[in-house]
Amino acid sequence: QKGGYDYFMQKEIYDQPEALTNTVMPRLHNGLADFSADGISDDLFKGINRVIVTACGTAMHAGLVGRHLIESMVRIPVTVELSSEFRYMDPILDEHTLVVIVSQSGETADSLAALRLANERGAKTLSIVNVKGSSIARESDQVLYTHAGPEIAVASTKAFSVQCAGFYLIALKLAELSGKFTEVELSEYCKKFEEAIATVSEVLEMDSYIKDIAEKIKDTFSAFFLGRSLDYAIASEGSLKLKEISYVNSEAYNAGELKHGTISLVTEGVPIIAIATQDHVLPKIMANVEEVKARGAHVIMVTDKDMSDYEGVYDDLIQVPAVDDRFGTFGVTVALQLLAYHVTVFRGNDVDQPRNLAKSVTVE
Ligand code: M6R
Repeated sequence: QKGGYDYFMQKEIYDQPEALTNTVMPRLHNGLADFSADGISDDLFKGINRVIVTACGTAMHAGLVGRHLIESMVRIPVTVELSSEFRYMDPILDEHTLVVIVSQSGETADSLAALRLANERGAKTLSIVNVKGSSIARESDQVLYTHAGPEIAVASTKAFSVQCAGFYLIALKLAELSGKFTEVELSEYCKKFEEAIATVSEVLEMDSYIKDIAEKIKDTFSAFFLGRSLDYAIASEGSLKLKEISYVNSEAYNAGELKHGTISLVTEGVPIIAIATQDHVLPKIMANVEEVKARGAHVIMVTDKDMSDYEGVYDDLIQVPAVDDRFGTFGVTVALQLLAYHVTVFRGNDVDQPRNLAKSVTVE
């Protein structure tokens, strides 16, 4: 079942080129997102003036990626709410609100409860779900299935990538319907999307290089992930991956928040994993990196940017293939998954079944 891999997580990391292709390619036609085979008509998206994404854990991080994309492209306000909080917020919902529920299993109790509330309050509901016929899929107005295949390891890897891909497709659909983009711009987006997916295989080829970096930080007690803008969403997922399986005390921070508290935790040798896929914030994140480096941190840059201006500011560099700024999610995410995986193997933990965690959380 593990297909020759040591762990399900490792196999599932390697499944990603196929999972992404299966999720994305059947839905890209002539430079547009096409959900007709999913039975999702454009009417679902018409007349909405806000989007609320609700999910838990990794799936919530995919929502953070989605928020960035939808807001930056189509200027529709998007909020991302933890499903475990959603009900208690007494959310304001109406027929102009699209609530997107993201769930690999489709059975997470809090996400299901959030969906039921959204349905009760008259919002339109769309779920991004991996397991066919699951409760969330059945109870949503519409379902955009991800085609990752079964995900066995508790740590979600391929499901995250395809959930993000779902948001890239939804953003493309909303962009088309907004009327603000030319055909050429939309088909350029598709081309860049496909190019970004293709880089995942190249990142997988960096496996042993990333393993060597993982070995350097394997004994750490804590680690911090930094990013700004879209990179904060990616950093959040990278940090969760590391913490849940390696038990390293890891947190993600918006890099700009460092000076407001976190920098006091930076001590000699502490690993700081800095993500940089966004040109518009590159000088800013590098200024933060300099600050932590000056305090003795072991800086691992994970980026698709040219770092030649910044040599000496970091200790290790995971340089993934360059893609358009909107699509940095895919390559960097895979690099961070491999980093978490190898740190965990070095520490001798049970990679696929970390302590205290279940694959599907069906209780609140
Ligand atoms: O099945 P779901 O996507 O609804 O699960 C939500 C979370 O429990 C899940 O994403 C969890 O955070 C991951 N397994 C962590 O890797």
